[in-house]
Amino acid sequence: MIHSEIETLLNNQIKLEGNASMQYLSMASWAEANGFNGVATFFYNQAEEERMHMIKLIKFVNERGGQAIIPVLDQVLKDFKSINDVFETFLTSEEKVTNHVNQVVYQCLQLKDYTIHNFMQWYVSEQLEEETLARTILDKLKIIGNDKGGLYQFDKDIETFSVEVDNE
Ligand SMILES: [Fe+2]
Ligand SMILES: [Fe+2]
Repeated sequence: MIHSEIETLLNNQIKLEGNASMQYLSMASWAEANGFNGVATFFYNQAEEERMHMIKLIKFVNERGGQAIIPVLDQVLKDFKSINDVFETFLTSEEKVTNHVNQVVYQCLQLKDYTIHNFMQWYVSEQLEEETLARTILDKLKIIGNDKGGLYQFDKDIETFSVEVDNE
């Protein structure tokens, strides 16, 4: 059985992963429309990943005897000032997800649910990876600044770059 408080928190987590997925889809679409095909590919992949994170949680809640709620998602941001703005939004979104993962983990310990605590550790590692990825990319963008050539190369490199970081 699943404690109702934790069930609610996991359902919030489902919604956050779903929102992140749609937010990244919106960023992929913006990048594509603005000629950044590498960045678009990166966010299409991220959107897919977040969808998998959501589904993993849905299945887990149902398997534990709870009821997963398929969420009504929030309106996502669709206009961005720059590539930098896109990746700032990426980091902010990941930080928001991390905060909630930590909240779930905290509550699991309070209520001594070590099974769900264990399950959530996968999300803890995932968030660490994602935040590191976002910060590394923002550092690169800081170096590039307003250099158009640099940005062009960045867009070409980002597909391979994201694969490298993921495999670490
Ligand atoms: Fe996620
Ligand atoms: Fe993520």
